[in-house]
Amino acid sequence: MNQPRSDAASAQAPAPHTADVVMSASGLVKRYGNVVAISESDFEIHAGEVLAVVGDNGAGKSSLIKALTGALVPDAGTIELDGRQIHFHGPRDARAAGIETVYQTLAVAPQMDIATNLFLGRPLRREGFLGSGLRMLDHKKMRTQAAEQLDRLGIATIQDITQLVGTLSGGQRQAVAVARAAMFGTRLIIMDEPTAALGVRESRQVLDLITRIRDRGVPVVLISHDMPQVFEIADRIHVHRLGRRVAVVSPRTCTMTEVVGLMTGALQMGADGTLLESTTQHMPDEKATSHRPPESPE
Ligand SMILES: Nc1ncnc2c1ncn2[C@@H]1O[C@H](COP(=O)(O)OP(=O)(O)O)[C@@H](O)[C@H]1O
Ligand SMILES: [Mg+2]
Repeated sequence: MNQPRSDAASAQAPAPHTADVVMSASGLVKRYGNVVAISESDFEIHAGEVLAVVGDNGAGKSSLIKALTGALVPDAGTIELDGRQIHFHGPRDARAAGIETVYQTLAVAPQMDIATNLFLGRPLRREGFLGSGLRMLDHKKMRTQAAEQLDRLGIATIQDITQLVGTLSGGQRQAVAVARAAMFGTRLIIMDEPTAALGVRESRQVLDLITRIRDRGVPVVLISHDMPQVFEIADRIHVHRLGRRVAVVSPRTCTMTEVVGLMTGALQMGADGTLLESTTQHMPDEKATSHRPPESPE
């Protein structure tokens, strides 16, 4: 294990044509006091792919995603969507640009029904009733469209669109959150550990949903700890460590052990894409030290 690879150059995922890049970022930085959450990181997702983002706890995966979705404003760096530089000031800006995010914590409203949840914050209203001022919610249309959306995504386990979300299983709730993202995410869908709270069968359903969304033309960023899951559905794997992207590899030419090696720092990727055993892995360098929050006294 951890021997330098003889066919090492193939580990690196091939570079895309510029026209295929949907979203990219370069030199992103985000500091919280002494903690560097994002350390000059780059990012790139292409049309038609599931890009997995993997990394140890605290590597800065969620912070990176927050920077891309307007949930945090980076201290430095640039972000481009469809080749144009963007400056999101909040999640609303990203949503308006067609970027939807699904979080690990089930972000649904349990006391509302499925249709209402799908249209949360963006309800459909009836055509100008009594002039233009009074526009009532169009529950019928929302229910019809919600049912169509679940159908399109093949979410078969939900039978009644008027069911309160609080009565659904964890997997079904996450399916509602994913369906909502798929409904409004026209450019990009980002999922931060969407299966972390789910069982095996429920995770399976969410994974199937992810590939269906990709096959319908919207690229997906999937943050996940689950290597078999990543290797099953990712087209490329972005490896994040100590706040930055350290490698982009192909699951077809790279092994799980190698990806874990890159995550922990046991392996490093050279400029030519070769994977080499790291000689400095046990010696905390300056970056590693400054990245970590201070030790707690206990
Ligand atoms: N709001 C915050 N305030 C202070 N430190 C933060 C904040 N958010 C994240 N961090 C720190 O930034 C680093 C990266 O965190 P995070 O992006 O959540 O990593 P990951 O998602 O890979 O586990 C961690 O050291 C974390 O403690
Ligand atoms: Mg995280």
